[in-house]
Amino acid sequence: MALDIVIMAAGKGTRMKSALPKVLHRLAGRSLLQHVLQTAAGLGAHGIVVVTGHGADAVEASAHAPRLRFVRQIPQLGTGHAVLQAAPLLHDTGTTLILNGDVPLIEAATAQALIDSCGGAKLALLTITLDDPSGYGRVLRGDPAGRDAHEGGRVHGIVEHKDATPLQRQIHEVYTGVMAAPTAHLKRWLAALKNDNTQGEYYLTDIVAMAVAEGVPVTATTAASETEVLGVNSPVQLADLERRFQRAQATVLMNAGVRLADPARIDVRGELRCGADVEIDVNCVFEGAVALGDRVRIGANCVIRNAVIGADTIIHPFTHIDGEAPGVSVGAGARVGPFARLRPGAVLGEDVHIGNFVEVKNATLARGAKANHLAYIGDASIGERVNFGAGGIVANYDGANKHRTVIGADAHIGSNCVLVAPVNIGDGATLGAGSTISKDAPAGQLTVARARQVSLAGWKRPSKRT
Ligand code: UD1
Ligand code: MG
Repeated sequence: MALDIVIMAAGKGTRMKSALPKVLHRLAGRSLLQHVLQTAAGLGAHGIVVVTGHGADAVEASAHAPRLRFVRQIPQLGTGHAVLQAAPLLHDTGTTLILNGDVPLIEAATAQALIDSCGGAKLALLTITLDDPSGYGRVLRGDPAGRDAHEGGRVHGIVEHKDATPLQRQIHEVYTGVMAAPTAHLKRWLAALKNDNTQGEYYLTDIVAMAVAEGVPVTATTAASETEVLGVNSPVQLADLERRFQRAQATVLMNAGVRLADPARIDVRGELRCGADVEIDVNCVFEGAVALGDRVRIGANCVIRNAVIGADTIIHPFTHIDGEAPGVSVGAGARVGPFARLRPGAVLGEDVHIGNFVEVKNATLARGAKANHLAYIGDASIGERVNFGAGGIVANYDGANKHRTVIGADAHIGSNCVLVAPVNIGDGATLGAGSTISKDAPAGQLTVARARQVSLAGWKRPSKRT
């Protein structure tokens, strides 16, 4: 039996007060819509249709999922009208699952339960009971013939908040915006919707009463948690959902043995994989794909993106690792920071030390190499056990092109040297402090490239004219 998924994402999101379409706002580093798409993609649907409208070009360009198609809804005349635009793309038999682009944390298991209870024959609604139901569509149960209080029993309709009577507004069971419907019925119901209501919109929710009238069974499934059905309509709601999501991820990490100094002060915007006995101090942000080996310790206030960190390595506080493609890798037993910056293509071997105010970009440091203070190493290969002194700079850019610097094993780069690339420093070479090196330096020798020190015995300081 065919499964189609429709995701409504055409609305403006006025209350976000933002130029960005609402579904493109980010939660844990991914757009709201992409969260929904990722869940949808796991359900094995024959097709996924996203209804776009407001900011359609940007929304469509940002969305990725297998078997994904778009339909445009312009103007936006309500949720029923939105799904109607998708109807021609839906299979004639089977089930259609309807999701909201601004309800990002819906869980796959919940959606699957809804699909199962629909089974291509029943209208299955996802509902939840809220302490404060205002603004939501209320689920009407019981005797459809007149009484409008929620009194248990069969579902016979949904009334929107704005259309509800004072008595109906006392109902706490609300429609979450998620349903699964038999596709053939759905197509027929959508075509028959009217907009004779307070908002002059075509309400998708009106199909519930149509199903009841036709004798099609309606079921209501309760959502497992409030978090999975909360929608994002304002910056306050977005921040609230972000914290709930981060807290849930922190709990998963801790349950796997990761020691977090404070689960309320970690942000994972992507995928963080941790070995055994990992410790993470407060205020760390992980983005993209980050892997931490066994016994890695991350100090406070680090931002780490797309990186692989080897076992027993310590990342000291305030370190920024940005491994935008091609990533950053740090070998086992390394020491990085505090205040270090590793940029794309930094590859550190085992036991490498990178200290404060050292920046490494597109450079390899072999096992045991050290750059402990105030240095820039870009487009370079640094051999084993090299000591790169304080204030050393690899001048890799001539204003037009970048060039590579190679430093052999056991070389000693004195403080405040400038290596003007391209240049090769031989194994075991020593560069005198303050040298500007623009030619290759031979292995095993001391190379000094600076003015000789002189002292003038008879020199007198100028004195003030009177
Ligand atoms: C809707 C439901 C309400 C439910 C609530 C749950 C209807 C009529 N009401 O109300 O019962 O309690 O969700 O959050 O369905 N959209 C379009 N095109 C449109 C209008 C909306 O694509 O013309 C999209 C929006 O971008 C959004 C979703 O549909 O993603 C829901 O629209 P919204 O206006 O937020 O509906 P609610 O009034 O919240
Ligand atoms: Mg809404």
